[in-house]
Formats: sequence, C-alpha cells, structure tokens
Amino acid sequence: MYIFCGDVMNENQYIEKLNIRDEIFPELYQYAKENRVPIIDSDALNIVKNFIKLKSVKSILEVGTAIGYSGLHMLSVSDDIQLTTIELNEASYKIANENFNTYKVQDRVTHIHGDAKEVSVNGKFDMIFIDASKGNNLLFLEKYKPLLNPGGFIIVDNILLRGLIVQETIDNKNKRKLKEKVDRFNHYVKENFDHTMYFNVGDGLLVITV
Ligand SMILES: C[S@@+](CC[C@H](N)C(=O)[O-])C[C@H]1O[C@@H](n2cnc3c(N)ncnc32)[C@H](O)[C@@H]1O
Repeated sequence: MYIFCGDVMNENQYIEKLNIRDEIFPELYQYAKENRVPIIDSDALNIVKNFIKLKSVKSILEVGTAIGYSGLHMLSVSDDIQLTTIELNEASYKIANENFNTYKVQDRVTHIHGDAKEVSVNGKFDMIFIDASKGNNLLFLEKYKPLLNPGGFIIVDNILLRGLIVQETIDNKNKRKLKEKVDRFNHYVKENFDHTMYFNVGDGLLVITV
C-alpha cells in the first residue's frame, strides 16, 4: 500500500498509473467513452504498443476494429506498420473508416467488413491482436494462427472479463457460459503453447509466442 498526497493506492493502481501515457487520440477516446464503445484500456494499450516496438512489428492483423482506436494507436508506433483489421458491425466499420481517413493512415490499412469467423484474410502477419467476441477467442486463435510469420506473436485482450472470470457464483446464464468459455480458453492456451504470458493489466492481456 502506498500513500500519495493523501490518496491511498494499492500496488496495482500504482503500476496502472505508471503504465498510462498521455492520450494521443483524445477525440476518439472521448467519443468511445461517451458512446460506450468498448476500447482497450490505456495501460494495456501501452503494453501492446511496447510489444510492437520491442519486436519491430511491421504487419498486424486485428480481429475487432470497433472505431479504429486501437488500430490507430498500433499504427502510431512506427510509420512502416501495416494493419489489416476486421469488423462485423457496419456502423462501427464506417466510423473506423472515417477515422483512418481523418488521421491519413488509410493507405496503411486493409479494412475488412464481415464476421471474423467467416471472412477470408490474405497475408502474413508479425502480430495478431484478438479483440472481438470473447466467446470466440479459440476459434479466432485457431483460424488466424497459420497467418503468423515465423517469430510472430498473438495478443488477446479482456481475458479477465472485468472480474467475471474469478466470480464463483454467476446467476445470469449467458454470463456464466461466457466466463466458462473464456476460462477454458485461458487454460487451453497454457496447456497447448509453450510460451505464454498472462498480464493483469487493463482487463487482462494474454501474449502467446508461437
Ligand atoms: C472490444 S471491441 C474492439 C475494440 C478495439 N480493438 C479497440 O480497442 O479500439 C470488439 C469489436 O469486435 C466486433 N466484433 C464482435 N464479433 C465480431 C466478429 N465475429 N467478427 C468481427 N468483429 C466482431 C464488435 O462489433 C466490436 O466492435
């Protein structure tokens, strides 16, 4: 427990504060918060961007674009990064397109409108970022893993389901099923991949080195 200027914070909050950087897309962040668009937490995003930098990632496949917030952030790490990103929801897809245009990265983005369970994606990628329907994580992992370049890695967001993952009793049937599915996925990855990292940042990040 640390005491800062009268505020008491625990170790997780202390680290969270250090991991959060100044927002470089404040309008998008604000829009997401006001319109309840689920975007990656700022501290987790910082970790994702550091992996991109650390591994000199040049090509990213993102499953779940939403309004393009994480996509724009990932592209901001270096001008030579290309992004392929998939979004099911038409309204979000259109807003993301506008945002990619506004920030003049449209030439670096292949934006696919459709269900990531069904669309076909061309290309090879240094990194895959899975951030769509959480109950389909395993399906996305198995479908897109073959598109990784040698030495590539996969990041999955929201592996903690905002705390649901450790709740013993869940009355809502859909929530209970989702928790069970994501919990099975989290353990499946541990059992089937030699190199995994589970981070308690944001809503939980999983990094898989294939
Ligand atoms: C958590 S949001 C993505 C947030 C975004 N990556 C960010 O951090 O800025 C998840 C998005 O995945 C989309 N989605 C859900 N299921 C999908 C699917 N099967 N295929 C493609 N997109 C999907 C949703 O419409 C939603 O916009």
